Amino acid sequence: MSAKRVTFGSKLGVILATVGCAVGLGNIWRFPYMVGSNGGAAFLLVYILCILFLGLPVMMSELFIGKTTHRNTAGSFKELAPGTKWKYIGYNGVLAAFLILGFYSVVSGWTLEYVFQALTGSLKGKSVADFTNDFAAFSSGVWRPIFWTALFVIATHVIIICGVDKGIERASKVMMPVLFIILIALCIRSLTLPNALVGLDFLLRPQLDKINSSVILSAMGQAFFSLSIGMGCLITYASYFGKDVNIQQTAVEVAALDTLVAILAGVMIFPAAFSFGIEPTSGASLVFITLPNVFEQMPFGSLWSFVFFVLLALAALTSVISLHEVVTAYVLEEYQTSRKKAALFVSVGIFLLGIICSLSVGAVKGLSFFGMPLFDLFDYVTAKIMLPLGGMFICIFVGTHIQKRILKEAMTNNGTVRFYFFNTYVFFVKYIASVAIGLIFINELGWVDYICALL
Ligand code: TRP
Repeated sequence: MSAKRVTFGSKLGVILATVGCAVGLGNIWRFPYMVGSNGGAAFLLVYILCILFLGLPVMMSELFIGKTTHRNTAGSFKELAPGTKWKYIGYNGVLAAFLILGFYSVVSGWTLEYVFQALTGSLKGKSVADFTNDFAAFSSGVWRPIFWTALFVIATHVIIICGVDKGIERASKVMMPVLFIILIALCIRSLTLPNALVGLDFLLRPQLDKINSSVILSAMGQAFFSLSIGMGCLITYASYFGKDVNIQQTAVEVAALDTLVAILAGVMIFPAAFSFGIEPTSGASLVFITLPNVFEQMPFGSLWSFVFFVLLALAALTSVISLHEVVTAYVLEEYQTSRKKAALFVSVGIFLLGIICSLSVGAVKGLSFFGMPLFDLFDYVTAKIMLPLGGMFICIFVGTHIQKRILKEAMTNNGTVRFYFFNTYVFFVKYIASVAIGLIFINELGWVDYICALL
């Protein structure tokens, strides 16, 4: 089966496609809003520790599994551990992909609304209060958000049926570098606003007493979400890697770029938010109410906002494609259907979930469970539970089921590239990452406090 499979065309293509998968709304929309609601720099500090000590080992393990088996997320476990329950890690991933796509495609749709507003000049001449109220009115409406979600899902669908090499790779090659440049320009603009330093302080000067169990769980969730790990997305992507792709280097480069983009997004948002008096705790609306104010203050403001939201939509698209591909590759390979049929099934599913998520934050209040609208519930369950649990089991799997010799051969491309920290990597996978993730869960459930109280 592996002989028939397509691979990404070039090394640059591999990096860009994987960065395209990792960098998306998670960095530019979710990261600032998590930082804002979890006490600022303290969250950033824990986040970076999670990337280094939990994210990187999980990421390398996923890339190893995908590149070795050339199978989808569930199929790869069936191949490495036939007849065992490990394939449930893959099923967890397929389900997580669906749930993430539910709210992610809605937020992607929001970016299209802002592209439209920039084009029609309706962002001009508004006050901070106008932007806040208009966003609330738009996102809680019925038809407009659903219309944009539909458009977005159709765009994803078209790229997915074109296949990985032509669609995903080509799209990422152009979009990622341009996004990067425009982010830097916007950081400079934001930093030169009045009062900018207060915002920078909020982002970069940690107050350690703000760290608590919920900050840690949120930071871990954000790290997993942002790196696209814990559910086999990178297993699926790495299954398209050619033989000579260097796993460790790819992991380090992707994690570094992803973190850099998130921090740049923070530098772009917080100085501006503080300068305009927008609460950093505004939640999911933070980016959408802060940025238009920044553009409004710039010469050719509508042009800037147009370019920015187009790029944000495209960054979202490359991530949505990766999530869609997880489910499509699974349906396609495990149920032996055509790519077209598998993709159609997934796209219709995403659209239906998108409608429910969108309605849950506005028109239909009844779509709430456990005190959260479905939109927030899907976000919570995936980022804070399914991805870290998936990551923990992936580490346990690689730590217990894969012989060290085989792992080393794969990580060094049969001894042709060096892996200086191989033993450290194995140590982290076997003992640190899985235990730490487990402890963070136990802590969140309040058991640590309980045990301390008993002692
Ligand atoms: N990481 C992407 C972002 O930051 C979202 C994403 C793509 C994702 N694929 C994923 C999240 C797989 C979790 C799992 O926007």
